[in-house]
Amino acid sequence: MICELLGVPYQDRGSFQEQVDSFLSGETSDEDQIAAYTATQHYLGELVAAKRANPTDDVLSDLTDSDLTDEELRGVALILLAAGLDTTANMLALGTFALLRNPAQLAALRADPALADRAVEELLRYLSVAKTFMRTALEDVELGGQTIEADTTVILSYNTANRDPERFADPHVLDLRRQDGGHLAFGHGIHQCLGQQLARVEMRVAFPALVNRFPTLRLAVSAEEVGLRPETADIYGVKSLPVTWDV
Ligand code: HEM
Repeated sequence: MICELLGVPYQDRGSFQEQVDSFLSGETSDEDQIAAYTATQHYLGELVAAKRANPTDDVLSDLTDSDLTDEELRGVALILLAAGLDTTANMLALGTFALLRNPAQLAALRADPALADRAVEELLRYLSVAKTFMRTALEDVELGGQTIEADTTVILSYNTANRDPERFADPHVLDLRRQDGGHLAFGHGIHQCLGQQLARVEMRVAFPALVNRFPTLRLAVSAEEVGLRPETADIYGVKSLPVTWDV
């Protein structure tokens, strides 16, 4: 989806995705991450130049018609990529894992396509793949009986908020029919996720399609053997999700 949005030519998508994965997954060495990041920056610079020369039907080409400089366009491409690719991809994989571990919930989603929208919101809450963000106070702020002094940086823990027992009944339970909405998986306030509607559409299409096309989908290894990303990864997820099904 992100390649489509940015207008990355089809033949480049495989290597482009590998590069991006290498600097976003938190699983490669610092040197490899820096090398992959630099290569991606270089690729995006060339892509911006190509779109300026020959605009195609995509967001990046449209933006060449604005007053943004090449460097700013490369920055826009990079933020869309970093924010939009790893998040949604991990929601899809981790969400599938969560459904396979909760067969009654998976069966409910299969039986009732109308549940898809609510299921996506609950998976977003339950998994909170984008765990923490930071804010710096511009002035002294009183919050929950604490004073946050000006120029102090605070960490916002969206995953903790999404499991707050004062806000959600049985917060550690995946309940696709949950009524108490209002999760913070996309953040809150002026910086809340720009791509949340696109991400929702992707998931509302993908989860029902997957579970209905593969009625016998199941884990190919035990749940304990599924490797999860380290705690230090910016975006939570599975390293890989081995599955199987009957043909
Ligand atoms: C399931 C998928 C996604 C999740 C869980 C997610 C989550 C988030 C979160 C938590 C924030 C930070 C909000 C804050 O600072 O309080 C954010 C920001 C952002 N997201 Fe997403 N995101 C997803 C998909 C996407 C997609 C598909 C795009 C673009 C196509 C995108 C673009 C952005 C951008 C540009 C920002 C920065 C907004 C700003 O600082 O003003 N995200 N996202």
